[in-house]
Amino acid sequence: MAIDTIPIAGGGRPHPVVGLGLWALGRWTPPDEARTKATIARAYERGVRWFDTAEVYGGGRSERLLGEVLHRAVGGGADAYVVSKVSWEHLRPAQVRASLIGTLERLARRSVDLYLVHAPDTRVPLSETIPALETLWKEGKVGAIGVSNFSADELEEAGRHLSGGRIAVNQVRYNLFDREEAEPVLEVCRRNGILVEAYTPLARGLLAGRYLDGRRVPADVQRFARRLFDPDRRATLVARARAIRELARTARVPMASIALHWLREQGVAPVFGAGRPEQVDENLAAWAVRPPARVLAEADAIARGDRA
Ligand SMILES: NC(=O)c1ccc[n+]([C@@H]2O[C@H](COP(=O)([O-])OP(=O)(O)OC[C@H]3O[C@@H](n4cnc5c(N)ncnc54)[C@H](OP(=O)(O)O)[C@@H]3O)[C@@H](O)[C@H]2O)c1
Repeated sequence: MAIDTIPIAGGGRPHPVVGLGLWALGRWTPPDEARTKATIARAYERGVRWFDTAEVYGGGRSERLLGEVLHRAVGGGADAYVVSKVSWEHLRPAQVRASLIGTLERLARRSVDLYLVHAPDTRVPLSETIPALETLWKEGKVGAIGVSNFSADELEEAGRHLSGGRIAVNQVRYNLFDREEAEPVLEVCRRNGILVEAYTPLARGLLAGRYLDGRRVPADVQRFARRLFDPDRRATLVARARAIRELARTARVPMASIALHWLREQGVAPVFGAGRPEQVDENLAAWAVRPPARVLAEADAIARGDRA
């Protein structure tokens, strides 16, 4: 399946509009690793090129597994669009450089396409971190630079410390049910030509039909789901997700296509997670179907609670 790409600020390679995230919930036992590799391989075979990883995912295992799978792919996976992130614990200039070197070694690549600050650390001024990233970009070790989990104020501040480069991306948590972090940054990103990448686009499976029929949410999923499955919110969100599932049935589209294209319609690029190859297949099948605008608008209203 051919996935569209869009240009990004700073002149890096065009950015695919949907991709696979390799956080994998930090489960990194040998069977999980084998499944993660099979999942990455399936995604690559099926045409996914954007792979999102980070030095903190599995303590570097995510990057290593991605490197191994891409190395075995046709052409060494040279056409993959690899995104990684420097940890919020490594934001001093020397640490930023050391982190990238570690990332490139684990990936067995000479550069990454996009390098993000995973999250800000208020103890380290952006006047230190952003120029350090920009230097790596000027050296060609990263194709573009960006940030993640940045507020509007932090984005404006980051922009003030650039000398010739551009912030290409802000990766934030954004889905039909989680809007409070993303909505305040959308306008500043549009104004500055910054692409918004949406993580957790499927609300950890809830927007793909999971957990809607009484299935228990595993403890590790709950732990990393922030407020999605909190007791005070859960019944409401499950009811709204069921209504979106019904809407999808009536419109004859996969439920996840609503979640993913609701984001895309706003110019946002979703990066979904998948724990198994079959989920990659399902999510790409969902991506291939673009629901009509009225269906997306209806889902938006349901998710906001504007429909009973
Ligand atoms: N920048 C950041 O701070 C940050 C934070 C979080 C995530 N991210 C990135 O964003 C990526 C995606 O985040 P996420 O994993 O939270 O996103 P998500 O797409 O909302 O959730 C993925 C999970 O949903 C379930 N799922 C996926 N496809 C499904 C399907 N077709 N049917 C039913 N269930 C399905 C799977 O759960 P099971 O594995 O339980 O089966 C999968 O692990 C991460 O991998 C990571 O790369 C970045």
